[in-house]
Amino acid sequence: MTTLKLLDGKLRLPVICSPMFIVSYPALVAAQCKAGVVGSFPALNARDEGDLDRWLTGLKAELAQFQAANPDRPVAPFAVNQIVNPSNTRLQRDLEICMRHQVPMTITSMRAPNEVVQEIHRYGGTIIHDVINFRHAMKALESGVDGLILVAHGAGGHAGRINPIALVAEIRRHYDGPLALSGAISTGSGILAAQAMGADYAYMGTRFIATQEANATPEYKQGILDGMAADVVYTDLFSGVHANYLRSSIVAAGLDPDNLARPDDAQAGKLVFKPKAKAWKDIWGVGQGIGTISDIPDVASLVDRLEAEYRAAKERLLQL
Ligand SMILES: Cc1cc2nc3c(=O)[nH]c(=O)nc-3n(C[C@H](O)[C@H](O)[C@H](O)COP(=O)(O)O)c2cc1C
Repeated sequence: MTTLKLLDGKLRLPVICSPMFIVSYPALVAAQCKAGVVGSFPALNARDEGDLDRWLTGLKAELAQFQAANPDRPVAPFAVNQIVNPSNTRLQRDLEICMRHQVPMTITSMRAPNEVVQEIHRYGGTIIHDVINFRHAMKALESGVDGLILVAHGAGGHAGRINPIALVAEIRRHYDGPLALSGAISTGSGILAAQAMGADYAYMGTRFIATQEANATPEYKQGILDGMAADVVYTDLFSGVHANYLRSSIVAAGLDPDNLARPDDAQAGKLVFKPKAKAWKDIWGVGQGIGTISDIPDVASLVDRLEAEYRAAKERLLQL
């Protein structure tokens, strides 16, 4: 185990909750951190000028107050996700706000974070980067990140194509630093499985969409309850990057998930993407872990359950 120093003694379970566009807002993040797992949100969720600054001020105050009132409980640090990509024209502005607030942990995605790493390290922040393959992992390590997130096959939202067992093993041959694994982890035994494979943390997204605190419509949450792994569609049609979406939301948008076509396929007589349906808002991102999700608890109850499942899975293994 190689852990991230800032998380030592601060977690109830080795879990980092992933940032989710449109879903992860401060209410969810605060509930996750209070429950003893890292909470995170994408900076891009803070839409209006001033939102990010306000959110960070509020989160820091709420968590500090909770920790003071509950000195014996592990309260996890929070993380902010930055999309490092030329299309993110807000990156520098958002980074400056986060640096001013000394955000404990930064999660970068898309491109190797290079110059961002130095800026985060300058104030003592921790930065981890998400990757879908070996080549991207090595590039991120060259840029000096403190840890990696491996986004394996079946993860919600933008996801890789590589089996998690293969991906972790491949990376572990060259890297023994902090490692989080993501992709369809929805249970306590899944968290333990990530560790058994060689990861230090499980990185969980979709399971937390079906919680009281998540900013998702009742229909989205119900869609997760109704869906199975086979109802997850992997396509680059909606955002330009391959991602996993819930089949029923594609159907509801008037599209045929088995015959998805690009606008220039229109002449071939196929169904075409209707711009009215918006990726993430109408076409819902989910991972293949939905088949085990059957309720919408609050975050505290969910983490209680995950911990009980995690302990039970450990005991089962000891009896082998
Ligand atoms: C609805 C949704 C939105 C997401 N938005 C982002 C995002 O804005 N930034 C990011 O780095 N990852 C995003 N992800 C990917 C997650 O960070 C993570 O890799 C994934 O949720 C883990 O797999 P799981 O959902 O199967 O647990 C998103 C995932 C989902 C399901």
